[in-house]
Amino acid sequence: MNKNNLIVGIFASVFLFLIILLVIPSLIAKEVDVQGEYVGSETCMECHEEQYKNYKMSIHYLTEKKNLKIKGCEACHGPGSIHAEDGVVEAIFTFDAATLAADKTEKCLNCHTRSNSRFFASSHGKSSMDCTTCHVEHSEQTKPSLLKTSSTKSCSMCHEDVFSLFQLNERHRLQEGILSCTTCHNPHEPAIRERLGGFKHESCLKCHMDKGGPYLYEHGSSRIEGCTVCHEVHGTPNRHMLTHQSTSDLCFSCHAGAPAWHSRFDSHTTNCTVCHSTIHGSNLSKIFLK
Ligand code: HEC
Ligand code: HEC
Ligand code: HEC
Ligand code: HEC
Ligand code: HEC
Ligand code: HEC
Ligand code: HEC
Ligand code: HEC
Ligand code: HEC
Ligand code: HEC
Repeated sequence: MNKNNLIVGIFASVFLFLIILLVIPSLIAKEVDVQGEYVGSETCMECHEEQYKNYKMSIHYLTEKKNLKIKGCEACHGPGSIHAEDGVVEAIFTFDAATLAADKTEKCLNCHTRSNSRFFASSHGKSSMDCTTCHVEHSEQTKPSLLKTSSTKSCSMCHEDVFSLFQLNERHRLQEGILSCTTCHNPHEPAIRERLGGFKHESCLKCHMDKGGPYLYEHGSSRIEGCTVCHEVHGTPNRHMLTHQSTSDLCFSCHAGAPAWHSRFDSHTTNCTVCHSTIHGSNLSKIFLK
């Protein structure tokens, strides 16, 4: 092949590739190209009285009052001078479905950097959700924390399966409002083992302090794998929210090597914790007998 043709060919395909890179995203998502000057919330009010009214009741307005450098409506919607001339929607940042989730989240993270900086690393952030999936700014009936609905309901929208486990016999009392999904989970954060039943069982020990020790003799599994290796914390039909119906099935799932005379125990009737009663840990017995 002619060398010049080859070079032209390479250039042409690189060029085409760049065009595709540039064009495809703009076909999928609306191009957000907000320009102009800041004009202040009062200007917006002229045409958006309703949003202005509920903005004035929002926590965000309180913060604007405290710090006049905060740009009111335009802190979230971007500079609005061009839009304010004749209401062209393309000239203002909107939170509608066509706007990229990451762009919407960035708007909020301009300020919420300290508490929510790891959102993009969370499973919600990674699943293309954004702050406005759960939070709303303009509404007369917002729940605490600007939520669209109550905290637990806003999780059940998507996690119906988990929510339904809380109807089983042995469960945490979520429906009664004793705790909520966010007692144990932070929807803004990546789920790290330390928070969820890992080494420190932090989220469980807030309430079950006695189970964390420190013990002279700690049950190895509790230390390494955490509470959830034995407990199904959303809900289960089994007593004490255990993962197995029979306690000995649970124990034998790790302890094939119990002393030989133990093999006479029937897995349906034997409750190992009758003797190994301090199963979470003990200061007196290495094998949790007292
Ligand atoms: C001259 C009147 C006027 C002014 C002033 C004005 N807007 Fe608008 N705005 C409009 C019109 C008209 C629309 C389009 C409404 C529609 O198509 O439903 C609109 C749409 C919007 C939307 C998009 C709504 C959607 O479809 O999601 C946002 C956000 C918005 N304006 C914010 C602002 C902000 C912030 C300001 C102040 C900087 C402002 N507007 C000032 C007239 C105005
Ligand atoms: C804290 C960020 C924030 C501030 C401040 C803010 N908005 Fe919004 N705005 C949003 C979000 C998020 C939406 C998407 C719908 C929602 O959450 O209510 C939205 C939606 C809108 C819409 C589309 C129609 C609607 O109600 O859904 C308009 C118009 C609008 N805002 C105008 C304004 C005006 C005018 C102000 C100032 C008075 C303002 N916004 C202040 C975040 C904000
Ligand atoms: C999956 C739903 C969901 C998403 C997505 C979400 N939040 Fe939240 N957020 C909540 C819930 C639920 C609460 C209430 C927490 C509670 O019960 O104490 C909350 C509380 C908050 C609070 C109040 C302080 C606090 O931490 O309790 C702030 C601020 C906040 N969210 C900001 C954000 C920002 C910024 C984003 C985007 C980066 C975001 N949220 C995304 C569900 C969500
Ligand atoms: C201009 C800065 C700024 C922007 C932009 C901003 N916030 Fe806030 N927001 C604040 C401040 C300041 C507070 C006061 C409470 C605090 O200290 O966190 C607050 C409070 C909140 C709360 C807590 C409400 C409560 O009842 O505790 C939520 C939820 C929240 N913002 C969500 C959002 C979302 C969602 C966006 C994007 C649509 C957003 N914020 C954009 C500054 C901002
Ligand atoms: C709009 C849908 C939606 C809402 C609302 C929602 N989630 Fe999720 N959640 C998801 C998706 C999608 C994933 C990722 C699933 C996956 O990775 O398998 C997820 C993952 C999770 C995980 C698993 C974390 C991990 O890394 O293993 C937890 C825990 C969780 N969500 C809790 C909550 C809580 C608590 C709320 C309410 C504050 C909530 N979710 C609201 C869609 C949602
Ligand atoms: C008592 C604390 C607690 C409460 C309350 C709680 N969770 Fe969980 N959740 C956990 C723990 C611990 C895990 C980790 C389980 C594991 O790693 O085996 C988990 C795991 C999850 C997961 C990921 C794995 C799975 O089972 O799908 C999701 C999603 C989830 N929870 C959602 C929710 C929702 C939604 C609610 C409220 C309806 C809720 N959780 C209430 C402690 C809790
Ligand atoms: C090796 C398995 C195992 C691990 C790990 C474990 N548990 Fe248990 N847990 C049990 C068994 C078995 C019972 C039932 C005891 C009985 O039959 O009396 C129980 C009972 C309970 C009870 C109710 C009875 C009581 O003593 O109050 C609570 C609460 C509890 N566990 C919390 C936790 C917490 C919190 C953790 C993590 C720090 C944890 N468990 C780790 C096996 C385990
Ligand atoms: C907000 C406090 C709170 C948190 C956090 C919490 N629990 Fe509980 N837990 C309770 C209460 C209260 C009960 C008593 C049962 C009820 O609600 O009826 C209970 C009951 C239990 C039981 C059954 C006890 C029995 O007698 O059958 C187990 C097992 C348990 N929790 C394990 C856990 C684990 C594991 C975690 C961490 C993932 C956890 N809990 C987090 C408050 C909490
Ligand atoms: C998830 C696995 C797992 C489960 C389930 C489990 N254990 Fe263990 N257990 C361990 C580990 C790991 C050790 C620490 C072993 C070591 O240090 O060599 C341990 C230690 C023990 C010991 C101390 C003696 C020894 O072998 O070191 C006894 C006794 C014991 N477990 C009884 C039980 C009983 C009874 C149950 C059921 C209620 C149970 N275990 C459930 C993992 C488990
Ligand atoms: C009647 C009381 C009793 C019951 C019930 C019982 N154990 Fe034991 N277990 C003991 C005694 C006593 C020892 C220590 C004596 C020995 O080593 O023979 C022991 C020792 C053990 C050890 C070994 C500890 C070591 O020294 O390494 C394991 C593991 C164990 N039991 C697990 C279980 C499991 C699993 C069950 C339920 C199927 C169970 N035990 C039921 C009394 C009991």
